[in-house]
Amino acid sequence: MAKPKKRYVCQACGGVSHRWQGQCGDCAEWNTLAEDVPATVFSQKHDLSSGGRAVEFVDLDKPGEIPVRQKTGLAEFDRALGGGLVPGSAILMGGDPGIGKSTLLLQAAARVAREGRGVVYVSGEEAAGQVRMRAARLGLSDAPVKLAAATGVRDILTTLHTMPQPSLLIIDSIQTMHSDKIEGAPGTVSQVRGCAFELIRYAKENGVALVLVGHVTKDGTIAGPRVLEHMVDVVMSFEGERSHQYRILRALKNRFGAVDEIGVFAMAGEGLEEVENPSMLFLSGREQPLAGSAVFPAIEGTRPVLVEIQALIVRLQSGATPRRAVVGWDSGRLAMLLAVLESRCGLNFSSAEVYLNIAGGYRLSDPAADLAVAAALVSALADKPLPERSVWLGEVSLAGEIRPVAHAGLRLREAAKLGFGKGFGPRDEGKHSGSIDYAGLAQLMNLVDRVVS
Ligand code: TYD
Ligand code: MG
Repeated sequence: MAKPKKRYVCQACGGVSHRWQGQCGDCAEWNTLAEDVPATVFSQKHDLSSGGRAVEFVDLDKPGEIPVRQKTGLAEFDRALGGGLVPGSAILMGGDPGIGKSTLLLQAAARVAREGRGVVYVSGEEAAGQVRMRAARLGLSDAPVKLAAATGVRDILTTLHTMPQPSLLIIDSIQTMHSDKIEGAPGTVSQVRGCAFELIRYAKENGVALVLVGHVTKDGTIAGPRVLEHMVDVVMSFEGERSHQYRILRALKNRFGAVDEIGVFAMAGEGLEEVENPSMLFLSGREQPLAGSAVFPAIEGTRPVLVEIQALIVRLQSGATPRRAVVGWDSGRLAMLLAVLESRCGLNFSSAEVYLNIAGGYRLSDPAADLAVAAALVSALADKPLPERSVWLGEVSLAGEIRPVAHAGLRLREAAKLGFGKGFGPRDEGKHSGSIDYAGLAQLMNLVDRVVS
């Protein structure tokens, strides 16, 4: 049999190279390549005598095999999961350090345990005493959660096999786990992948819902290889700004349900509180309209959320390169909108610094917010407030047209219910607008005319 070819895997991004290099060719990190031995090398032609068991085929409609979701009782968590935990599934929970992942999972664990279902919480980051202190602070000390501080996956699995099967297993975090069958330090690609594989196999074989906490790197991806995202059934992200109170739990991938519902929480002294009606949370609540502020009617799953977009433009005197800074929105999309405003509407941002912020630590990715962002930018540039209690929605094309968006009618009706009297958006949405006073805009230029005139 041919000798397996050596390959080198980047410990930061999972990129593969066939020779060793000082710098990873994929992510440009230095000194991250390590040798990786492929587990098996199949011979070219399949040899029938080599054994292998027959695979069982089933029909798509075979009844009785669909697992029932188990609610955790933390309604916002269940909502983001698409209705609750699926036994035998693996969930990856990502988020910035200190955002509240451990707090959220301890609260969910306590709810499940109090309902009489078994819960094991393994902390690889904090000592048991620290987790106990947090539990005391959250008023959860009496919940029958089985808590352990451990990092050895083999120890954890051996122990789990000697005790009654839990219904929920939480591993905080996967980057601290270590398997002695695999080479490398905890947190390296091979360790993270190997440990996750063993834990997921245990979960699938035993019908246990598994939650793996995963750290997030500077650029917002879950540390370790992308393969982790492929291995799990659900990828969740816990978002927010640490300095703000509100946290949003979002599913980025869900093999068992939709990914459009979010869970909204507020971080308080006694842990995370559920926010049932988030529609007004991300508005500043100020009375007087301000230049550079626009309101966008977002839809998260089935719930409307009104979000304030703030823009600030600072004219530069010198010829220094102007800064563009964005919090809560895509910087590439901001660059695109600025280019469209310059080339289609004749506005000049080139000698100005542009700052864009989505209020309350909210993150927007809906292209329907383009028009609201453009409105905030134009209003800031002209130093003129937008019409009082107005909402803006619409996607902006490179040609400067305002394009239709999903759920326009729902967004406008909800805004009207919350006291917004004016709506601006794509031309043909007026018929859905209900009681709101609606103005359709065909081109971005129409927005500029309205704001500047
Ligand atoms: P934590 O759950 O440890 O974050 P993660 O596991 O994502 O790193 O939460 C850390 C932050 O939450 C910490 O900075 C303090 C804050 N916090 C509260 O404000 N109230 C609380 O009741 C708790 C437990 C934490
Ligand atoms: Mg933590």
